[in-house]
Amino acid sequence: MNVSDSERVASQLEQLGYAITDSEESADIVLLNTCSVREKAEQKLYTRAGQLKHSDGPKKIVGVMGCVAQLEGESLFKKDRGIDFVIGTKAVGRVGDAIVAAVDGEKRFMDLGEREEDYDWLPIKSQRHSPYVAFVPIIEGCNKFCTYCIVPFSRGREKSLPASEVIRHVLELRREGVKEIHLIGQNVNSYRPTTDSGLEKFKGKSQFARLLRAVAATGIERIKFTTSFPRDYNSDITDAINENENLCNWVHLPVQSGSDDVLKAMKRGHTVESYKKKIDDIRSSPRNISLSTDMIVGFPGETEKDFQGTCDLFEYCGYESAYLFKYSPRPGTPAAEMEDDVLPQEKKMRFLELEKIQRRIQQESFARKTGTLLQVLAERKGARDGQLTGHSTCQAVVNFEAGIEKLGSIVDVKITEAKTNTLFGEIQ
Ligand code: 5AD
Ligand code: SF4
Repeated sequence: MNVSDSERVASQLEQLGYAITDSEESADIVLLNTCSVREKAEQKLYTRAGQLKHSDGPKKIVGVMGCVAQLEGESLFKKDRGIDFVIGTKAVGRVGDAIVAAVDGEKRFMDLGEREEDYDWLPIKSQRHSPYVAFVPIIEGCNKFCTYCIVPFSRGREKSLPASEVIRHVLELRREGVKEIHLIGQNVNSYRPTTDSGLEKFKGKSQFARLLRAVAATGIERIKFTTSFPRDYNSDITDAINENENLCNWVHLPVQSGSDDVLKAMKRGHTVESYKKKIDDIRSSPRNISLSTDMIVGFPGETEKDFQGTCDLFEYCGYESAYLFKYSPRPGTPAAEMEDDVLPQEKKMRFLELEKIQRRIQQESFARKTGTLLQVLAERKGARDGQLTGHSTCQAVVNFEAGIEKLGSIVDVKITEAKTNTLFGEIQ
């Protein structure tokens, strides 16, 4: 979501006539996009702002956007951190006004206002992270209020983009040569547009399943979506994947814990059993769908037995990749009021143990892929000369030897070797 926000802000600035530079030294204005999902991410902002303030050369204008900007607001101007303006998560469409104000000498310019009706969600080609892969936001915000999470406070309530707009974006990206789109949102499968549905002619047990079928019908080569919320995951989403080759065989379904007690304290709205049922459903697909997840270790009150439940769930689900996190209390969330009673060294041990299990499971899954053909989008040059890298339909990173003329094409790669998080193979 943050990469996608940055791309749109860079697009607006380029359209306003600013030049975007990769070199921090040559920049007159530096805009820091921020995350507040864990404390460490938030600390990064203060370190970076301090470095910029004390860097040599002419003084730069420093702006802050993203979740820390939204949550901290005014207080970012305190302590002489060298921050000139603050733009909230929904005010990013007005970043140009903030820069003009700062250049005109206005101190402490801040906009935490609402998003404008005609906000442009589509970044321009030159500011997208890849010419072949693009993000398409379909929903922003979150209504779930998991007790540990700051996102509902920093990003506000769920708001879905009209389906007609989503389809227009996909068609435009397709015209521009994009091969793979990622429908993105905090919870994509909670997609519920209020206006101008445009989805009536597509079947589906939820608006999201209909949207998937509508996006598939645009003919774009590959469609991925993230993140899905377990409670809102219905089997019709799997059906839509089964019916449409261009809906990729990958589902990211964060579970957060493998203990019912912890899940309850997290207010996740699902149990281990109900989650496993969804996994069984996805597994029954003939498309060989690969699974990934997010998991938190060391939530308040998590016992050794609870943690064991998490390890068991990993074994059951066979995730091909997983984002693992140590619980980090976020001020203002209900969990921050609970005693953070799992000691730091215990959190670390659980984290390392789970990581070990995950590595083994991934290697087992990768071993099954060895000798098979994967369809890989050649996205960019690899680390070694003569090597290209890209993702398979099942979202594995695959490296292979090929000339740059293959960039942007989807090629068959026979898998020969697996390392951590990466596959290697030969183009066929
Ligand atoms: N502590 C640790 N991890 C967190 N996440 C969200 N909030 C916290 C927190 N307070 C993780 C969840 C979520 C991912 C984006 O970040 O696993 O899915
Ligand atoms: Fe946070 Fe839960 Fe919403 Fe995900 S679903 S963004 S973890 S509150």
